[in-house]
Amino acid sequence: MDQRWYKNTIIYSLSVDSFLDGNGDGIGDFVGLMNRLDYLNGLGVGAVWLTPFHPSPRRDHGYDVADYYSVDPRYGSLGDFVEFTHGCHTRGMRVMMDLVLNHTSDQHPWFQAALADPDSKFRDYYIWSDEKPADAHEGMVFPGVQDSTWTYSPEAKAWYYHKFFDFQPDLNIANPQVQTELMKIIAFWLELGVSGFRMDAVPFLIAADGIRVKDAEPAYGLLRRIRELAQWRKGDAVFLAEANIPPEDCLKYFGEDGDRLHMMFNFPVNQTLFYALASADTRPLRAMLEASRDLPPTAQWAHFLRNHDELDIGRLPDDQRQAVFDAFGPDKDMQLYGRGIRRRLAPMLGGDRRRLELAYSLMLTMPGTPVIRYGDEIGMGDDLSLPERDAARTPMQWSGARNGGFTSSTDPVRPVIDDGPYGYRTVNVAMQRTDSGSLLNWTERMLRTRKELPELGQGSYTILPAPDHVLAMCYVLEANVSVFVHNLLDQRAELRIPVLAQDCSDRPLVCIQTNEIIPRHADGWYHLVLQPSGYRWLRIGGLEDMIVGEEPEADA
Ligand code: NOJ
Ligand code: CA
Repeated sequence: MDQRWYKNTIIYSLSVDSFLDGNGDGIGDFVGLMNRLDYLNGLGVGAVWLTPFHPSPRRDHGYDVADYYSVDPRYGSLGDFVEFTHGCHTRGMRVMMDLVLNHTSDQHPWFQAALADPDSKFRDYYIWSDEKPADAHEGMVFPGVQDSTWTYSPEAKAWYYHKFFDFQPDLNIANPQVQTELMKIIAFWLELGVSGFRMDAVPFLIAADGIRVKDAEPAYGLLRRIRELAQWRKGDAVFLAEANIPPEDCLKYFGEDGDRLHMMFNFPVNQTLFYALASADTRPLRAMLEASRDLPPTAQWAHFLRNHDELDIGRLPDDQRQAVFDAFGPDKDMQLYGRGIRRRLAPMLGGDRRRLELAYSLMLTMPGTPVIRYGDEIGMGDDLSLPERDAARTPMQWSGARNGGFTSSTDPVRPVIDDGPYGYRTVNVAMQRTDSGSLLNWTERMLRTRKELPELGQGSYTILPAPDHVLAMCYVLEANVSVFVHNLLDQRAELRIPVLAQDCSDRPLVCIQTNEIIPRHADGWYHLVLQPSGYRWLRIGGLEDMIVGEEPEADA
């Protein structure tokens, strides 16, 4: 069995500033984070993904980088970062970090030098126009907040291009010197112990319009060169691409031969999964799962529910998007950029434990590697009074102590949720630790089980025949065969699933959560009853009957 680490791990995403404040200044930091490595390890996390922690004006949560080679002093020093990676490695965990190469902050010394002197070599690090381009008001990523992609600089006496906010000028990736700089940044962090990068905004990074390449084909070759460099410097390094694109384009990012990026977030599955939760119709999700097949052997999907941004449902057809808005974000204030919902998972699902379990169980059983978001393991809520995406970036709720135990300061970096059903006195780690039935303990059990099922990350899968409101999937890896069944309707469902594989007939189908044995009916099918919003994880032979490295026995 292929043991590549990213194929059977759990990735946990967090922002250093919202996790735990170690020095009482109100801002989360590396010292605080290091105090919680045993918590993350105990939860079952295999890789910690940090959103940007570099020096930055932080006008876009750190995605406006002012210095790629250091740590924002508010979070600690480079020394603290290395202590952190060491602490992770000691516990068998890996570190992933955001890699924001599409743009810098306008405060970055490269941009400052480019503004100050048209003859500086840094001028060509960015993308300029003497005239206002005709399409200056098209293609903004944050419509309604940012109204153009070109901004005039009186200092430079020219217009510069920015796919995102005007304080994030796009780098000119077509410039070989810029490519060299980017390679150096990657190599630097690999040397400090990082195992992987979540690569920000990949479609824009390689887009032909943003980089003035002569050829209309995006710069896919750059992805290959980046991978080559990383694997030469550190054999187990991986890239996880943020690219919200249609499934038919994904192979270009993985590379037909698997020689570009290792992993991609599966945005099409994410959006149709939320539609399935909203409507109980699993057909679009099935279609996206079918479209997600046939990857090169080293390629891998990453699956998620919520992340640090809005839930982007912009690629769903209008009626499906509306169904998700109606179910999970009906108020205008809950919506963002005309395409997304800025709430956390628990409030979107009305705090209903059965629906939360259903959603997480579905995500954990998608073909690929799960990515979970800090605070979702305890069902944290959101604060819609905060601007834009900050609603879902409130501090971690550790206990019922003041400010949820996040900081001893009276002035936290963002307000801790302190009232209502998601306030820190009601939703916190300390309380859930002592309750064996809590969401935290449920999540821990599910993550442990998930890691004992390598067929989910590495096997082949079949979508079994079932009514539209039920998703039944069978995974096979060598002689390991599992079935995962989810009932999206809030009504009891009965179903029959067919014989799974020729060689399974003498091994029982066992429910992993309960050890219940599901007999094979005389008609050759397994008969199952699912509770309203119920789910079952089933395995031929159960978990104790794991078979690794053996070929299935040939028929006598
Ligand atoms: C994608 C990130 O997820 C988002 O948070 C950020 O604002 C943009 N890229 C710009 O870096
Ligand atoms: Ca601090």
